[in-house]
Amino acid sequence: MALWGGRFETKPDELFKEFNDSLPVDAALGLQDIQGSIAWAKAIHRAGVLSAEELAKLTTALSALQAEIASSPALPLSDKDEDIHSWVERRLIEAVGDLGKKLHTGRSRNDQVATDFRLYVRAEIDARLAELGEARRALIDLAERTKTVVTSGYTHLQRAQPILFAHWALAYQEMLERDAARFRDARTRVNVSPLGSGALAGTTYQVDREQIARDLGFGAPTRNSLDATSDRDFVLETLSANSIAAIHLSRLAEDLILFASQEFATVEMHDSVSSGSSLMPQKKNPDACELIRGKCGRIFGSFATLAMTVKGLPLAYNKDLQEDKEPLIDSMRQLSMCLRVLVRVLDTLKVREDRARQSALDGYANATELADYLVARGIPFRDAHDIVGKLVRLAIARNKRLEDLTLGEMQEVDRRIEGAVFDSLKLETGLSRREIAGGTGLRAVALAIQSARGRLKG
Ligand code: ARG
Repeated sequence: MALWGGRFETKPDELFKEFNDSLPVDAALGLQDIQGSIAWAKAIHRAGVLSAEELAKLTTALSALQAEIASSPALPLSDKDEDIHSWVERRLIEAVGDLGKKLHTGRSRNDQVATDFRLYVRAEIDARLAELGEARRALIDLAERTKTVVTSGYTHLQRAQPILFAHWALAYQEMLERDAARFRDARTRVNVSPLGSGALAGTTYQVDREQIARDLGFGAPTRNSLDATSDRDFVLETLSANSIAAIHLSRLAEDLILFASQEFATVEMHDSVSSGSSLMPQKKNPDACELIRGKCGRIFGSFATLAMTVKGLPLAYNKDLQEDKEPLIDSMRQLSMCLRVLVRVLDTLKVREDRARQSALDGYANATELADYLVARGIPFRDAHDIVGKLVRLAIARNKRLEDLTLGEMQEVDRRIEGAVFDSLKLETGLSRREIAGGTGLRAVALAIQSARGRLKG
């Protein structure tokens, strides 16, 4: 059943119908469409369009349809209706007869679809927030397991300074915590109620828009009917939050892929999240992390897709806007998978303490400590930097670590160096000097773990 046949002499061309129909995509919004329809039925009842008895009949039939979709979400896909709104209306008319034709009084598919989609996006955001919470939990647990594991920190992918492995895990928990905040912030702007905006100019029926908003759990009604029926920045904002979260997951995945390589070998991924090679029997590949990294392109692509679709549209609704759902649905599904797979990767991750420590010992990562030692002896930092640079060059030439140089060898470079220097070169010394808030000291990190856990619960 088409919702608009009266003005037309011929039926739509078949190819055009296939092109125009959105049911294969917006079938996903079935529950939200009915939820919005129940709220609208109540609103036009209060406005005097439907009797109490008619309202009861409509809501009973709509609720039954809702239950049908809940138990069989793919149900609408077997039909050929134009979109989910047409599908629900047809099924409603089949159930209650002509009364079903009254539901659309004062409503347009333009305010209807904007409402459905806001309900849908809101539910998706809430689901991602729960998944982000789990991923943060997994990172904090990993930090707890590795709060005494020393490893090398990198800049420019060169060994830089020793850090605790837990400090690395908590860095990503910070990013994911901000991602969650972005979703919550976007949610406040998603959470407004377009119903009553009509096709573009506002409905002529005296519906109580505040009450409709309350019925649907929205914070407030939208303020401008042209904007309400054509704005999709609530979707763009959400897709941008998805993209930023995906970028963080991609960086995390990349770190883990590197750490799992035989060159680093500081972590080992569990067999259950790795795969093998069809040719090379020895291979164990980090496919889970590679896919998390790879999905990032697709998730960002969804943002770009919708941004280009909306750019240049004249006010108000245009059919281009029908292209808003696929990017959001796909982006959400991919991000959800990434977050859930990541939790499995993290919960089963083995950190190889011996290898991690070795990487911190091997890369001259204690050179900054040596410079600080010289500064404490009254040498200006610039000069200290230069002296240590020479010591590193000497150590490299003799194939030694800094701490393996003899005092005599060090004094050849600078006479002011004394025996106490060796204490400053120990890994633990470097860490213990970084108890500053936000630093990688043992106590600072233990406190950071506690604090992160508290924020996750709170
Ligand atoms: N399927 C449409 C969409 O997703 C519903 C709104 C159609 N409105 C219209 N005036 N043709 O945007």
